[in-house]
Parts: sequence; structure tokens; C-alpha cells
Amino acid sequence: MKLFNYLVAGVFISSVSAAELPDRQAQIPAIAKDPAAQYLQPSDLSAIPQGEFGDKVRLGYQIFVNTQQLRDKYVGNELNCVNCHMNAGNKANASPLWAAYMAYPAYRKKNDKVNSYQERIQGCFTYSMNGKAPASGSKELVAISAYSYWLAISGLMNQLAIDGKVAELSDIELVKGGNREDFPLPAEVKAMFDQKALSSLAGRGFPKLEAPEQAYSTERGEIVYQAHCQACHGADGQGIKMANVSALPPLWGPQSYNWGAGMHRVNTAANFIYENMPLGKSIRLTVQQAWDVAAFVNAHERPQDPRLKGDLPQTQKSYHQHDGFYGKQQLGTVLGADAYPNFPAAK
Ligand code: HEC
Ligand code: HEC
Repeated sequence: MKLFNYLVAGVFISSVSAAELPDRQAQIPAIAKDPAAQYLQPSDLSAIPQGEFGDKVRLGYQIFVNTQQLRDKYVGNELNCVNCHMNAGNKANASPLWAAYMAYPAYRKKNDKVNSYQERIQGCFTYSMNGKAPASGSKELVAISAYSYWLAISGLMNQLAIDGKVAELSDIELVKGGNREDFPLPAEVKAMFDQKALSSLAGRGFPKLEAPEQAYSTERGEIVYQAHCQACHGADGQGIKMANVSALPPLWGPQSYNWGAGMHRVNTAANFIYENMPLGKSIRLTVQQAWDVAAFVNAHERPQDPRLKGDLPQTQKSYHQHDGFYGKQQLGTVLGADAYPNFPAAK
């Protein structure tokens, strides 16, 4: 195994490949939406303090909303983090950063491995962004962690009407995440919430959609797509570019998330789509339509699963024991067989 995260002749080798990441795209728990839930309301960006710590928080925000600034360095497709974690990572039920931050480190029974917050972000760089993740402790991962931390703590302080500033944390502390006993919290927050409540804040992830009445169908999904999606995402699913910049994101093809990303699972996409699409929400899909269109979107070829070793059936068996089409026949082809490259350079 190659070790990237160390100094070679004074040069910092600063990226991580999928081979070094265990399967860190395990599904996060999806729970049904509680209509009475109260969501955290983080402070306005203008409240981010001046100074070195505030600069990290601001950089995290900027990377999150314009991840294309890292194109070809760490990002291999046309997406930005905010395309799925909407409203700058603030939107409840669109996998908000404030809830995510408080859920890591996450302990996984399977291999007893601790999954830190920065490792989870590395996962989204590798799979959702079809890229090469920045190394642990890099300024990008510190910045995104600082931004997430600031949203979480300011949100908790606002909910309990606690005055004062969000405490500054060191880089080493920031990248771990807030789900640990030694995590510094305002005393009032500690008194009100236990660790379990903090690690499963209302609005985390995408709410679990009820099962469809009929098994989902890509054929019906195509009809839903034409009626409710293609005006924005294009008849060919490639999104819409303005001045050569992706204004409306692609849903499949070479510029989309890859076969290792959580969004390629039909259930995860259905949860996301039902809650968040079509954008603007003047129309809401039925439960059945959301499943059907999620299946249709994910029945198209996209960049390869970067964990591919040997052949497709083996990779399918190792990593795809879930609700997705990788390695299966759909719309006339075996998906994954003609996948697009990982981490390609922009043309
Ligand atoms: C194509 C959509 C998409 C994009 C783009 C994306 N993510 Fe994600 N992200 C997901 C999905 C889906 C999950 C949850 C996966 C699951 O349920 O297994 C997730 C999970 C996460 C989590 C953990 C959430 C939790 O509550 O545990 C973090 C943190 C995160 N992403 C950060 C990022 C960052 C940072 C970027 C940009 C570098 C990014 N994501 C880009 C789809 C995306
Ligand atoms: C009015 C325009 C519009 C419509 C209609 C629309 N979307 Fe989107 N969609 C967007 C935008 C914009 C984003 C990125 C959100 C952001 O950055 O805040 C997005 C993001 C997404 C994403 C995650 C990012 C990605 O590219 O993978 C998926 C999946 C998605 N839409 C699916 C759908 C589906 C399915 C439909 C139809 C049911 C639909 N959308 C309808 C505008 C639209």
C-alpha cells in the first residue's frame, strides 16, 4: 500500500486514492421525517469572526459552495458539494453539515474502525466528486471541518439562546468531529443534550421515504423525468452549462457522481429527490414517482467505482450488496461495463 500522507524529499504528497479508503460510503441511517421536528438554525455567515479561525470557516464555506475551484486537483467532475448538501450545507433533510459534524467520529462494528469527520469528507471527494481526496489534515479538510463545526455549534447556541462566540478549536480537534466524550461544548449544551441526541439531530441525512406501492420502474421513471426534471437537468441528463460553468448539475454520464457514491443507490436517491426535487417545489412528486425517477436516473452509465479490482462481478459482490444497478442489466446494457474514467482531467 502506498502512503501518501508524508513528506518525500520535502514535497507534501497530498492526496488519497480510493485504495486507501476502506468502504466509507456505508449508508447513513435514514429515518422517517418527523413533521414536528425543530431544526438547528446556524448563525448567519456575517457572524463568522475575524481572524485566523474565522478565515478557516470562511474558506470551508467557499470550497463547499464552489468546489470547482479544486477541479483537477481534488475534483474530477462538474459537481459542487452544495449540489446535494443544499443551501450551503444548511438545509435540514438535505444532509446538512451541522448534523453530520456531530455524528462523527462514527464507530463501525464491521471492522472496528473509527470513521472521523475528515475521513467521511474524503469519501465524498472520492465518490460523489469522482476525485482524489485531499490528505488528512490538509487545509481543505480542516476548512470544511471548521465550517461544519461552526454551523453546528452556532446552531446549538442559537437553539438554547446562549450568548457569546463559538469557541475556537485546533486543526487536530476540528477534523475529528463532535461525537466524542472529550469534545468541548458549552456547559448549557452539555446539560440539555446527551451525546446520543447530538449525534442524531433532527434533519440529518435524507429522510427515509416509505416503500413504493409497486416495484420501481425505470420505464415509468423516464416519463417522470421528462415531465419534472429534464427542463433543468437536460434531456440527456448532462445538466445545463452557462458560460462554460455548470449551472444546473448533471445526473449521469462522465461529469456526474461515480458508481461508489451514495447517490447511485436507488433508495438514497429516492429519499433525496422526494424531499428536495424538483427544485422550487411548486410540484411535489408522489412517493411512487420519486422511486421511479430515482431508478431511471441511476440506470445510466457514470464514472467507474474507484474500488474496482479485477472484474465487475467481484466488485459488485464486494461493495454493492444494496439497492443499485451496478453490474446489472438495465436499459439494454450492463451498468459499470462501460463506465467513464475516474478523476479525469477537465477538457
Ligand atoms: C452527488 C451528491 C453529493 C455530492 C456532490 C456530495 N455529497 Fe456528501 N453525501 C452525499 C450522500 C448521498 C451522503 C450520504 C450517504 C449515505 O446515505 O450513505 C453524503 C454524506 C456526506 C457527509 C456525512 C453526512 C452525515 O450526516 O453523516 C458529509 C460530511 C459530506 N457528505 C460532505 C460532502 C462534501 C464536503 C462534499 C464536497 C466535497 C460532498 N459531500 C459532496 C451526496 C453528495
Ligand atoms: C428548477 C430546476 C430543477 C428541476 C426541475 C429539478 N432539478 Fe434537480 N437540481 C437542480 C439544482 C439547481 C440542483 C443543485 C442544487 C443546489 O446546488 O442547490 C439540483 C440537484 C439535483 C441532484 C443532486 C446533484 C446531482 O447533480 O446529482 C439530483 C440527483 C437531482 N437534482 C435530481 C432531480 C430530479 C430527479 C428531478 C425531477 C424530479 C429534478 N432534479 C428536478 C435543479 C432542478
